[in-house]
This record gives sequence, C-alpha cells and structure tokens, in this order.
Amino acid sequence: MLIKIKKASDVSEHQVTDQAVYLNRRQFMRNSALSIAALSGTSNVLAGLQEGNLITPPASLAPYFNNIKETSFGMGEKVAPFDVATTYNNFYEFGYGKGDPAKRAENFKPDPWNITVEGEADIVGTFALEDIIKEHQLEERIYRLRCVEAWSMVVPWVGISLGEVLKKFKPNSKAKYVYFETLYDPSQFPGQNGGNIKWPYREGLRIDEAMNDLAFLSVGMYGSVLPNQNGAPIRLVVPWKYGFKSIKSIVKIRFVETMPETTWNLLAPQEYGFYANVNPGVDHPRWTQKQERRLPGGLLFPNVIDTQMFNGYQEEVADLYKGMSLVKNY
Ligand code: MTE
Repeated sequence: MLIKIKKASDVSEHQVTDQAVYLNRRQFMRNSALSIAALSGTSNVLAGLQEGNLITPPASLAPYFNNIKETSFGMGEKVAPFDVATTYNNFYEFGYGKGDPAKRAENFKPDPWNITVEGEADIVGTFALEDIIKEHQLEERIYRLRCVEAWSMVVPWVGISLGEVLKKFKPNSKAKYVYFETLYDPSQFPGQNGGNIKWPYREGLRIDEAMNDLAFLSVGMYGSVLPNQNGAPIRLVVPWKYGFKSIKSIVKIRFVETMPETTWNLLAPQEYGFYANVNPGVDHPRWTQKQERRLPGGLLFPNVIDTQMFNGYQEEVADLYKGMSLVKNY
C-alpha cells in the first residue's frame, strides 16, 4: 500500500485554500484565455487576473502551453494575486524600484530567443527556445519565492525540471558547476547603461544542486508565458535559495569546473554568498532573516511569518549540504 507521508514542505493548514478554489484553479489551467474572464474572482490564483492580463504565447510556444501537466508541488498554497507577482519585482536591468520592471519592460522582445550552451558537455551550441523545451511537457509547480530582502510570495510557475534539460546536453565529469547569464542588451535593458552591477547578470549552481528535482526552468506563470518583468522568456526558479539565484531572461548556460562568478557575490561578497540558501539561522549583516513579509500584505496587515530553513524544502535538499557549514557557506 502506498502511504503518503506529509513532507515538511507540504503546506500548513492556514495556507490551504478550500477545494472549490483549488478545482477552479485547475479548471483555469485547462481552459483557454476566454474562460479566464468567466472564472475571474472565483479563485485565489485568479485574484487580480483580469482578461487581458495574460500574455498570449507566441505561435512557437503555444502548443506547449495547451498541454500543461498538473503536479502536486505546492498544492493548496495560497498563491499571490497575479497583479502582485507582476508589479512588485526585482529586475535591475529595468531599474531599482519594485515597480520599474512592470513600467519599463513593455517593449522588451522575448521572441525569438536563443540560448547558447557551452563548456564541459558533449552537446553544445546555440538553440532556439522552442528546441530546448520541445522534448519536455511543461508542468505547473507552485513554489514559495523568498527574497533575501525578507519578503516572499507564492507563485504558480510553468516550466521544466532544470536537471532534465541539462542532462540532454550530456555534461561531462568536469562539469562541477553550471553558470547562467542574462541577456546583455542595454538598448532593451536601460539599467545596463550604468550602476554598480557587472553586467550581464550572472548566476550559478553546483551541478548536484542543478540536478535536484526542485530546480526549475520556468517559461511561464499563472498558466501562460512569463511577463517580461518576471524574466521572459526563460528564467531559473530555485525555491530553497534566496530569490537572487533565480536568474531571469537567460541566454547562456555554461558547464564549468570551478565555482563561477555570481552577480551579488561580486558586488558585496560579505553580504551575499554563492550558496544563498534560505536560512533563518544566518542573518544578513544588515537585517534579520528569521522572518519574512508574505505578499500581499500592507501597512496595517504586514503578514509577517517565520522563515523556514531552506524555505521549507529541507526534506528535498538538506542532503546536498551534509557536512558543510552553512554559516561559512552562506
Ligand atoms: N535576474 C536578473 N537578470 N536581474 C535581476 O535583477 N533579480 C533577482 C532574481 N533574478 C534579478 C534576477 C532577485 S533579487 C529576485 S528576488 C527575483 O529575481 C525576483 O523575481 P520576481 O521579480 O519574478 O519576483
């Protein structure tokens, strides 16, 4: 007999939405954009989602979005309203204000999109986005996103397991890490014309972290493609790490032997490490990481909750760090 044991990452009662809401959400995922208006207001995923909010997938990606697999990841989580997840963003290529990406990303061109794969792998080259996703079925995963700035939200991502994609390139035994880079194009990203960041934005994972089942390559959210401000057309989502690891608008994947440079570690190494695992036991030098503001919230209702080790995904990822000091390797 199969016994389902509740994992620590499964949600607690106060986060659980009722069954009707959940069924409506699943229904929504299966239906076309037209049905969205009819359902609007009936589910927490749909809260704030109005007809017209959703971006129609380009023709090259549309077939994949018609066939999104349901998963149990985050089932029952209270998802952030679409308008919160798409107007409160960190995407410094579009500016430093939380509202800047939504205001300035409108003309960004995520289609067509190519990704270059290089380094320690048998299969390297430049691939169109659709060639990277075409052998996989898109799936929906609802994950908690915890920013190092101590806010968080729950987002229903659409994408593919990162490990499954990486394996297709046949990384060799020297591939100890994988490095990712965002597009460098100051004509589209006004923020890249200055500032202290060494552009392009860059991130990396140890190869075993990248192969962990939770690591996700997202091409969508709320059942459709990613809005530009959320990292269109393809971004990483690493839910047990602080949000800055979840690099947006990826154009380069490189398999490497040594720990790669990462944007925030380059900028302030004493504040942001390579690992950046969510850890309430290791404070940021300038603020506590013991708690977080779960969005949406407001001045009168800040919605402060305790931060969980590995953002609540300890059962899935703690083994990756056995014997390592997470104080030293922050
Ligand atoms: N990727 C790029 N290229 N540029 C960025 O500024 N910000 C990171 C991450 N990915 C960032 C990025 C940070 S700090 C966070 S918290 C998340 O994106 C925010 O993702 P969201 O705006 O979709 O919530």
